[in-house]
Amino acid sequence: MKILIAYCTSSDNSEKLARAMESALNQEDVDLIEVGYKTIIDLSSYELTILGSGIYLGHVCIQIIDMVRNSTNFPPKFAFFYSRQRKEPYPNAFKPIKEIFESNGSEFLGEFNCLGEDFSPYTNEEFTDAQENFERQGFHPNKEDLKDAKVFAKSLI
Ligand SMILES: Cc1cc2nc3c(=O)[nH]c(=O)nc-3n(C[C@H](O)[C@H](O)[C@H](O)COP(=O)(O)O)c2cc1C
Repeated sequence: MKILIAYCTSSDNSEKLARAMESALNQEDVDLIEVGYKTIIDLSSYELTILGSGIYLGHVCIQIIDMVRNSTNFPPKFAFFYSRQRKEPYPNAFKPIKEIFESNGSEFLGEFNCLGEDFSPYTNEEFTDAQENFERQGFHPNKEDLKDAKVFAKSLI
């Protein structure tokens, strides 16, 4: 299966998750691409598109949002992954992008998320959450997160 894993990252957490997924899909034809500000990808050349990001001020990165907004061709299937520093997940973070895919006939297969520390905090709350997570469980994404990301990736095919 021809698969795209495209991600943006500020501190490599999304890249770690993307590479874990790529390794789980090593029987497939996978392109791994870091999305920048002007990245254009023909998404319709893939049977499955997996997009990943950190959460930045409650949102996924603008590079991914712009890449999808500027797309005119869409894949038959898509999925998302993200990591975040706060304890609570962000189930609506990809919602604007999901709507664009679905209005173009793509089928949503699922979403993976885990913790991911950054330690360049923007609010005291974020820093406290990150510190507590770190003290409780060590740095994320950890081995368990990467294993879970692989299981998720395999579940998509
Ligand atoms: C500018 C900035 C803003 C962030 N805002 C949030 C946020 O609103 N909520 C959250 O849970 N984490 C937030 N984080 C933490 C990141 O989402 C988290 O560390 C993630 O794993 C980063 O992934 P990356 O290394 O792929 O960029 C923020 C990080 C940065 C750098």
